[in-house]
Amino acid sequence: MGKILVTGATGTVGSAVVKSLARIKADFVAGVRDHAKAKEKLGASSPLVTFDFADLATYAAATQGVDRVFLIGPPLDYTLDKLLIPFIDYLKSKNIVRVVYLSAFGVEKISHELSFHKVVEEKLRADGFHLTVLRPTFFAQNFKNYEWDNITKYKITYTPSGNGKTAFVDIADVGDVTAKVLTESGHEGKDYILTGPESISYHDAAQLLTEVRKEPIAYPAPTPEQFTETLKQAGAPDFIAPYMIQVYSMIANHHVDYVSPVIPQLLGRAATPLKTVLLKEMA
Ligand SMILES: NC(=O)c1ccc[n+]([C@@H]2O[C@H](COP(=O)([O-])OP(=O)(O)OC[C@H]3O[C@@H](n4cnc5c(N)ncnc54)[C@H](OP(=O)(O)O)[C@@H]3O)[C@@H](O)[C@H]2O)c1
Repeated sequence: MGKILVTGATGTVGSAVVKSLARIKADFVAGVRDHAKAKEKLGASSPLVTFDFADLATYAAATQGVDRVFLIGPPLDYTLDKLLIPFIDYLKSKNIVRVVYLSAFGVEKISHELSFHKVVEEKLRADGFHLTVLRPTFFAQNFKNYEWDNITKYKITYTPSGNGKTAFVDIADVGDVTAKVLTESGHEGKDYILTGPESISYHDAAQLLTEVRKEPIAYPAPTPEQFTETLKQAGAPDFIAPYMIQVYSMIANHHVDYVSPVIPQLLGRAATPLKTVLLKEMA
């Protein structure tokens, strides 16, 4: 058996996948653009190889001895499909056909402008890959990764999610599921929706943050227009507000209000609640 290549390995999901694979002593290599950053993020003992979707010259060495790939693209990129497709074509040309792709829950409902996950999935299927699609909902880690300043400085959580709900998923659970499906047979052709144990609104999340931070954290439920104006005032690049509004419309429009049985079924334990993650990361 060959090894596993983990793409996006310095990222939120990829680093969790690396951790889970290392724990079960799987044979893997982390594909990274910056070795110094990767060592800091993943520890000195993680096996690293240089890999950049945008640099075809890195593909051959990164896939040496590899027969399975964890494929994930970076966020906030409207043309993610175009970034990933040359690498997918390369894998196919080398007959490396076992791929676990990290997509997102609800992509069939998302606006055309953000159709990149759908395009990548369709290509992987059409090209005959032995595919597992992972569909996590919104990450519990988004509060720390994207809202640290909002929460700690301004005492708000600020997304255009209305009163909609989702069952925020812990990335450590996503890492464990990914490691399992990469190292076991029987997951080819499967589609797994990954959620936490309870579907909650941002009003509920603000209440949890209030308990964890031991100070009032509000959720002002901004309209898309208010959200756009706030990001503009804060000097965010123009493309970010429309991207985030489309992403969070998935919650606002009640497309991701669902608790999936997959994490308990695959891991034999309950999915981690948002409050547990917040206590670890936001207290
Ligand atoms: N956040 C959510 O709630 C959520 C929910 C469902 C699905 N998703 C999906 O999750 C994905 C994002 O994952 P994440 O949160 O783990 O992202 P992240 O933390 O921002 O990490 C992105 C990773 O991609 C790497 N990368 C960027 N450009 C690259 C390139 N040209 N070649 C190779 N690697 C490159 C980065 O490497 P460097 O360290 O070198 O920059 C980093 O390792 C997106 O596809 C998003 O749609 C997110």
